[in-house]
Amino acid sequence: MQAAARSASCWYSPEEDAGTMTMRQARAPGPGGVRSPGRAAVGARTLRTDRWWAYPAVTFAVLAAFVAYATYAAIANRDYYAAPYISPFYSPCLSFHCGMVPGSRGVPHLGWLGTWWIVTPAVVILIFPLGFRLTCYYYRKAYYRSWWLSPPACAVPEPRRRYTGEARFPLLGQNMHRYFFYAALVFNVILSWDAIAAFDFGGHIGIGVGSVVLVVNAVLLWMYSLSCHACRHAVGGRINHFSKHPVRYRAWTLVSRLNPYHGNFAWLSLVWVALTDLYVRLVASGVIIDPRVF
Ligand code: FES
Repeated sequence: MQAAARSASCWYSPEEDAGTMTMRQARAPGPGGVRSPGRAAVGARTLRTDRWWAYPAVTFAVLAAFVAYATYAAIANRDYYAAPYISPFYSPCLSFHCGMVPGSRGVPHLGWLGTWWIVTPAVVILIFPLGFRLTCYYYRKAYYRSWWLSPPACAVPEPRRRYTGEARFPLLGQNMHRYFFYAALVFNVILSWDAIAAFDFGGHIGIGVGSVVLVVNAVLLWMYSLSCHACRHAVGGRINHFSKHPVRYRAWTLVSRLNPYHGNFAWLSLVWVALTDLYVRLVASGVIIDPRVF
């Protein structure tokens, strides 16, 4: 029974099943996949008859659409501010030139990049949220399957004959995830402040559709970050007795409740952050007028 269950897993190996795989074998890059020595010689590409290709196909399409839109939005370098709304792709605005391009008049900026930085400041900002998502455990599964077909699904062989894992460059860099997590928290604070500022209409408190859009964006980003596996480890890892750390135990319990939904938050926050930029862009460029509730 146990062997049958494991054989349905992507990670099944005879050595592991027999309990004879050493730690060195488990870590060593080498031949992998269904054509490895010792694996059953099955002629068919896969014996799965369900629509296993749907998940990688949809994932590929959504990620490709996001990459295309984010690239356009980042290099456009205009239409990212319509008071009091700022696009999350341009916040915080780090260049003195922020506010000098169309659709950005009056944007608050820090000027940390000096006066010589004249290209889009978004490329500096996006390093951190994109690094966080690229190294995310959930997104790794998503793009390894959909973009690299490695493997495209469980019990479906990957096209490569060798498996090198994440033990060498460049995938060794995936271990940076815990550091990107802390950077992402800083951005969550900034975007939460932007969401609060989205209710300030020239000194008067008000609510526009954009205010709601920015609040939902901040909430989803927090949910995505707080359900992160690195967050779970940060709050509850490396302790031997939860009973001696009641606060960390409560925090770990909360994060553990969110963690199973991490994939959902990953997709929702990804789509919503792009929609937030699009909304601000349309208002800033005059294509639409932001409806005000009051
Ligand atoms: Fe996905 Fe950390 S595991 S953000």
